[in-house]
Amino acid sequence: MPTHGAAAGKTRSRGCFITFEGIDGAGKSSQIAAVVALLRARGIDVDQSREPGGTPLGERLRELLLHEPMHLETEAMLMFAARREHLAARIEPALAAGRWVVCDRFSDATFAYQVGGRGLAREKFEALEAWVHPGLQPDLTLLFDLPPDIAAGRVASTGVDPDRFEREQRDFFERVRGAYLERARQAPQRIRVIDANRPPEVIRTEIERIVAEALSA
Ligand code: TYD
Repeated sequence: MPTHGAAAGKTRSRGCFITFEGIDGAGKSSQIAAVVALLRARGIDVDQSREPGGTPLGERLRELLLHEPMHLETEAMLMFAARREHLAARIEPALAAGRWVVCDRFSDATFAYQVGGRGLAREKFEALEAWVHPGLQPDLTLLFDLPPDIAAGRVASTGVDPDRFEREQRDFFERVRGAYLERARQAPQRIRVIDANRPPEVIRTEIERIVAEALSA
């Protein structure tokens, strides 16, 4: 974990890159807001973003990705196209300037949704990942894990029109969840699995502890 510039009183060390992952309805949004508030309270300069999106072009691609039917490889390539732009225009400059980046989803989501959920060939995912961000992974990833039927209930209770992904069936989300957990097993130091089937305050306390560890590392 890199030293955090502002809070450590050091200047211009590389910032820390934290991502949040999980199936739709896992409850990451409110926890992201809490983590960002916590970091800012500690004097850390944080850039909060999301994928797909995070740049004007990325947000336009997001609209297409969430609503326009497309081939699964087109979907994977557009996810990585939006990511390429996001890295170049926002993530890399922020980290290089010592700012922290907290992002709602990154490439673990492509592994989970496009490889796990849709059945994209792993080698194609790996080729895109190696092309778009060779040598870069988040410093810390918080994976919100919970059973798809509970997550689906949460999505339905928002009353918001579901997008193309949220309309998928339970077996799709079972595969997405399985792929996320597989990825976590491959990178246990980076990806911390959070049991999201608990009250928000309990989850928040656990996340604060994990982030505090990151701060002192
Ligand atoms: P998200 O912002 O979590 O949705 P919401 O605004 O409803 O909280 O993510 C948008 C959707 O995009 C989500 O269903 C997961 C999907 N997605 C992928 O399939 N692959 C990816 O690489 C990314 C980043 C997101």
